[in-house]
Amino acid sequence: MEGLHLTIFFLLTLTIVNSLTPNCDLTSQGSTLRVYHVSSPCSPFRPKTTLSWEESVLQMQADDKTRLVYLTSLVAGRTFVPVGSARQIIQSPTYIVKANIGTPAQSLLMALDTSADMALVPCAGCVGCSSSTYNPAKSISFSSVTCGADQCKQLQSSNCPVTATCSLNTTYGSSIIAANLAHDNITLATDSITGYSFGCIRQLAGGSFPPQGVLGLGRGPLSFISQSKSIYSSMFSYCLPSFKSSAFSGTLRLGQIGQPQIINYTPLLVNPKRPSLYYVNLIGIKVGATVVNVPSSALAFNPNTGGGTIVDSGTVFTRLVTEAYIAVRDEFRKRMGTAVLSSLGGFDTCYTIPIDKQVPSITFMFPGINMTLPQDNYLIHSSSGSTTCLAMSASPALNVIASMQQQNHRVVIDIPNNRLGISREICS
Ligand SMILES: *[C@@H]1O[C@H](CO)[C@@H](O)[C@H](O)[C@H]1NC(C)=O
Ligand SMILES: *[C@@H]1O[C@H](CO)[C@@H](O)[C@H](O)[C@H]1NC(C)=O
Ligand SMILES: *[C@@H]1O[C@H](CO)[C@@H](O)[C@H](O)[C@H]1NC(C)=O
Repeated sequence: MEGLHLTIFFLLTLTIVNSLTPNCDLTSQGSTLRVYHVSSPCSPFRPKTTLSWEESVLQMQADDKTRLVYLTSLVAGRTFVPVGSARQIIQSPTYIVKANIGTPAQSLLMALDTSADMALVPCAGCVGCSSSTYNPAKSISFSSVTCGADQCKQLQSSNCPVTATCSLNTTYGSSIIAANLAHDNITLATDSITGYSFGCIRQLAGGSFPPQGVLGLGRGPLSFISQSKSIYSSMFSYCLPSFKSSAFSGTLRLGQIGQPQIINYTPLLVNPKRPSLYYVNLIGIKVGATVVNVPSSALAFNPNTGGGTIVDSGTVFTRLVTEAYIAVRDEFRKRMGTAVLSSLGGFDTCYTIPIDKQVPSITFMFPGINMTLPQDNYLIHSSSGSTTCLAMSASPALNVIASMQQQNHRVVIDIPNNRLGISREICS
């Protein structure tokens, strides 16, 4: 029994775009559903021009920077994020999935986000949305949520008449959103979740919103994971393929069936202020056999400040709080000996000579798990092989274990048992 496999086509437009002949059929087969990387040749949102390696890395770093500002604002408990620079950056919604909403079904390619809860769907008549929208008037299973409903009370505090439509203001990345809370059926694979609650967007401002909406896989009450609990038991896992892979396929598996039997787990931590985020306890970082000397404040989970470590699939390159990053980087540089150093955008530890032999390993230590990264998960090589960078950088307040560092690992989110599992799995 395969369980529910969502095949992930994972592609970063490094050098491989032209040699690919993809199967872009988005129809789900049984319980198997494909998920594409947003830059995949199958994605309508892929970059129009093929970027050079340097341009791709710099673009991903820019997207990460926007996302980090957003994640940091989430953990600080602020409601609104200041709208960023005039040069509007598209926040990277790294993976997209086809979701069917309503009866008859209307299809949208929604971005998956493990650090968000409520689905946000561009609705017909929306001011500022792109052209693909969902039209509630064409769905017989649509209903709006009123101010008197419990879900509305959870979301907004303003007084509104009990029978009026529940509206809300929220942000996503640097976008500001006005939406109405609505119910309709949603189907990802074969199972339909009836009466799914989501934000039907009326107005959108700012540049970072995925064109056909966001599906939140966080752990809060309005996320897909919570609302599909009776079917998938609040459990899912994913395996992201290698950046270098030419197969571009990985899996996202919903529910208990088919999950690994033998896997190490670490406890999930809950920040009551931001219950959607998947916090874990990063207790140390090894470079080679040395546990680097990091002030415990740089790693400590602190629900008041929002500090600590989250596992996020929407950020590409791992971020460590400045003191931790500097300790890791300095030990890494020391072990590399006299090798030549250069920089690339936000990466400050790059080498322009062949370095493979002397590279030390890097291990993230969690209670119950030592995650020793394969070199592909922390070194990024230019297509010509002439430049190699340590693919991590500093963060002001929050450690983020990002998608590159998770590649070729299965990550299991088991909410009923409040734990997160990690094991090596080659899924490229
Ligand atoms: C959302 O913002 C608008 C404009 O600032 C305001 O008029 C409205 O009352 C807000 N709605 C809610 C539910 O907070
Ligand atoms: C949508 O939900 C309604 C119940 O609200 C159900 O009767 C209907 O069959 C569902 N439609 C689909 C396509 O699952
Ligand atoms: C991780 O490594 C440290 C030190 O190298 C060791 O003390 C610890 O027991 C290991 N933890 C697990 C879960 O293997």
